[in-house]
Amino acid sequence: MKKVLSGIQPSGQLTLGNYIGAMRNFVKLQHTHRCFFMVVDMHAVTVPQEPAALREQSEAVAALFIAAGIDPAKSSVFMQSHVSAHAELGWLMTTLSYMGELERMTQFKDKSAGKESVGTGLFTYPALMAADILLYNADQVPVGDDQKQHLELTRDLAHRFNTRFGELFTIPEPYIPEVGARIMSLDDASKKMSKSNPNPGSYIALLDPPDVIRKKLSRAVTDSGREVKYDPKNKPEISNLISIYTHCSDISVAEIEAKYEGQGYGAFKKDVAEAVVATLEPLQQRYRDIRESGEIGNFLRKGAAEAAEAAAPTLREAKRLMGFLLP
Ligand code: TYM
Repeated sequence: MKKVLSGIQPSGQLTLGNYIGAMRNFVKLQHTHRCFFMVVDMHAVTVPQEPAALREQSEAVAALFIAAGIDPAKSSVFMQSHVSAHAELGWLMTTLSYMGELERMTQFKDKSAGKESVGTGLFTYPALMAADILLYNADQVPVGDDQKQHLELTRDLAHRFNTRFGELFTIPEPYIPEVGARIMSLDDASKKMSKSNPNPGSYIALLDPPDVIRKKLSRAVTDSGREVKYDPKNKPEISNLISIYTHCSDISVAEIEAKYEGQGYGAFKKDVAEAVVATLEPLQQRYRDIRESGEIGNFLRKGAAEAAEAAAPTLREAKRLMGFLLP
């Protein structure tokens, strides 16, 4: 069975972007692949986190994985920090990466821009992400468009290791949705929808109540004109809403275009909002049930034990090939 690994940071609220770009594919792939899904808490601390908030958000993201439809009996769901092999292989990958290639990472450039002091963890973060993936010899990595560059670096590091020390790592492929790989901000379609945006009207949080979702979508910026047409270059705002709609309804892009022909934006925007509410309301109910059940700790322990078992032989072999004396 081919393997899949992915992760989501527990920093702030998860958005509809995380759901459409990544989580929906987690759910889809679990039926055909051996899957590992993590809450990447060690990545989250590359920028300052308030400890109590980090704890709460970590549990919330784990519960959202399950609420979104990941079956913990089928897939291993775990906290990155519960499997120490990530930190260990992360260090080995750091020693294999070059300053120049890390400096070229656009996420690093964005997050460090204009800051007086920038943490080293933020800089070496992609080496840890490479370790996350390579530990499990993942074939496919479901992510949104913004992680593509990190995946390319992972492939380069895997290839570098294999060439220098001997064949060990599978070269992973990104698994990116065709439509919706980059869900944009509701107030500005030139920026991706992000939980770190200070304007909460710019994103839909997965736990936003239905009325808040309706309000945010009714205020979403739209392009001039009145044609509902998927054309990301010339109609970025409407195209973004079409991406959201198709993912929350399973009505195809062509069907959406046909449905609203000659009708303007009003009815379309209302229907997008109802589709999002219909998708998120049951997810939110499941989320509340899981949090109340007190079961999260149990499935995270099970997931971490499975992940640790899968990761251990790869880490051991990486160390052996690099010349470490094994215990
Ligand atoms: P993170 O936590 O920023 O985002 C989690 C996933 O959501 C996707 N995503 C989006 N997709 C579409 N539109 C958007 N607006 C949007 N915003 C976020 C991201 O592409 C991502 O797939 N470095 C990673 C976490 C990570 C990881 C890994 C991922 C750590 N180790 C190993 C895969 C494999 C990150 O910061 O994602």
